[in-house]
Amino acid sequence: MTGTPLAELQVATESSDQTERLGEAIGVSLQPGDVVLLHGDLGAGKTTLAKGIARALGVADTVSSPSFALVNEYALPGFRLFHLDLYRLNDPAGLESIGFPELTSAEDAIAIVEWPERAGALLPDRYLLVDIAYVADGRRELRVSGVPDSAWLERLPALRRELTSSWRD
Ligand SMILES: Nc1ncnc2c1ncn2[C@@H]1O[C@H](COP(=O)(O)OP(=O)(O)O)[C@@H](O)[C@H]1O
Ligand SMILES: [Mg+2]
Repeated sequence: MTGTPLAELQVATESSDQTERLGEAIGVSLQPGDVVLLHGDLGAGKTTLAKGIARALGVADTVSSPSFALVNEYALPGFRLFHLDLYRLNDPAGLESIGFPELTSAEDAIAIVEWPERAGALLPDRYLLVDIAYVADGRRELRVSGVPDSAWLERLPALRRELTSSWRD
């Protein structure tokens, strides 16, 4: 065997700072057209990770959770970044009104989605899923997987390199 393709990566972080840097490692691996789903309980670290991703993509502003609008948009050279937080979505019709299907299928955009489970059937077919679990006060366990496997096989080695390299230093 020459090693199985990487379907899933697991990493633990010991502080919010580390999670943010892990986000940067994910961010540098992204390209327009990508969607990143951030799954985890309240306080797990989704927004913290999103900050790191956004910084790596070139966002200079402070990234905080979108509130009433459910989505924040950042214009970057050559593409747009959408940061969605569906926590306050109280009606599935709200997904259509913010243009969720378009935001997560635009070829010239990267979308980061907190509380993706609230999008139900409107989730795209292809995405990077980050599952964040609270372990202890400062510690979180993160599972990163590409869905579907086949769409990410070529990119997983580079992603794995990023996720296992410098972010922890
Ligand atoms: N390893 C860690 N990774 C991320 N956040 C952490 C970590 N340890 C402690 N925290 C704290 O947990 C909270 C995470 O908040 P946030 O990122 O807003 O979560 P979410 O968006 O999932 O609700 C922050 O207060 C952060 O300081
Ligand atoms: Mg959040």
